[in-house]
Amino acid sequence: MGVRFTGWGIGIPDRVVTNDELSLTLDTSDAWISERTGIRERRIGGTTRTLGATAGAAALEDAGLGPSDIDFILVATSTPDRMAPSTASMIQADIGATCPALDLNAACSSFMYGVRVAQGLIETGTKRVLLIGADRLTGWVDWSDRNTAVLFGDGGGACVMEYSEDVNDILSFSLGTDGTATEILSCHHGDTFTMDGREVFRRAVRAVVDSSLEALEGAGLSADDLSLIIPHQANIRIIQAVAERLGISMDKAVITLDRYGNTSSSSIPLAFDIARKEGRIKPGEYALLTGFGAGMTWASSIIRWS
Ligand SMILES: CC(C)(COP(=O)(O)OP(=O)(O)OC[C@H]1O[C@@H](n2cnc3c(N)ncnc32)[C@H](O)[C@@H]1OP(=O)(O)O)[C@@H](O)C(=O)NCCC(=O)NCCS
Repeated sequence: MGVRFTGWGIGIPDRVVTNDELSLTLDTSDAWISERTGIRERRIGGTTRTLGATAGAAALEDAGLGPSDIDFILVATSTPDRMAPSTASMIQADIGATCPALDLNAACSSFMYGVRVAQGLIETGTKRVLLIGADRLTGWVDWSDRNTAVLFGDGGGACVMEYSEDVNDILSFSLGTDGTATEILSCHHGDTFTMDGREVFRRAVRAVVDSSLEALEGAGLSADDLSLIIPHQANIRIIQAVAERLGISMDKAVITLDRYGNTSSSSIPLAFDIARKEGRIKPGEYALLTGFGAGMTWASSIIRWS
């Protein structure tokens, strides 16, 4: 038995905020942000609930399913709209489902942790899971702090994962958490994000490379076998450093951060959906999905797109 991805969808705010627009209120420039991060613009708006519900409904439609076909809703987010109830509960109502619903938080790795949790649910008898990654990080940044304000955007991305008797899309996983790194990227209740950018950068490259190699080994593959790498979209220089260390050409990397910035839990499903619509993921090919986030947390998986 295995797990298949059968539908994908996204929910993105309409409002585009360019680097030039940020430069009007922050001591920064389009040149600095583009060169140091690769980000040119981001989308801002919505709530975690609305972004997630839009993405979730789109994924259901893509899978040819209705709300009553879903057996479990997981919402991967570190910016829930309320302490209680969970964002998953509210999205369940919005899309008209009646199944159990749960939030999970591993910061920017939440979506990848969600894939692992959904896989576990399916392996233990749940038939169909709607996994949504949604975050509204721009509600939690200090807009006078140029170190963080330029990096983030809002968005949602979702997938439907189903039990399959004969197909298995998920070949391997490598997950990790280092709780001793709590203070390098953190946000207290009611406060805004603080970050040691250089330290996050340094640790992110190491964690993503190591977990990608472990995931490749788990799948019995080498980097040459990959057709695509779908990395968490935090900084183009992190992605370049990872690709170089893994010996993967940047042509194989899906990049969306130029248009959307770092959308946290939605960055990987958003990139996946865009790559798929551009015809970059073909049946039978191998892709590496890999991300990292506050915690620190990291997660890599090899999938074979069926
Ligand atoms: C944040 C980050 C873009 C900063 O880039 P960097 O090349 O490391 O830059 P530094 O922090 O060394 O700062 C270099 C200079 O640019 C300045 N600077 C920082 N942000 C700036 C901005 N938005 N505009 C202009 N200048 C800026 C700094 O103040 C510093 O100036 P100084 O030399 O006079 O002190 C980069 O470290 C990064 O992306 N880190 C990872 C963050 C991340 O991924 N977070 C999300 C995790 S899920």
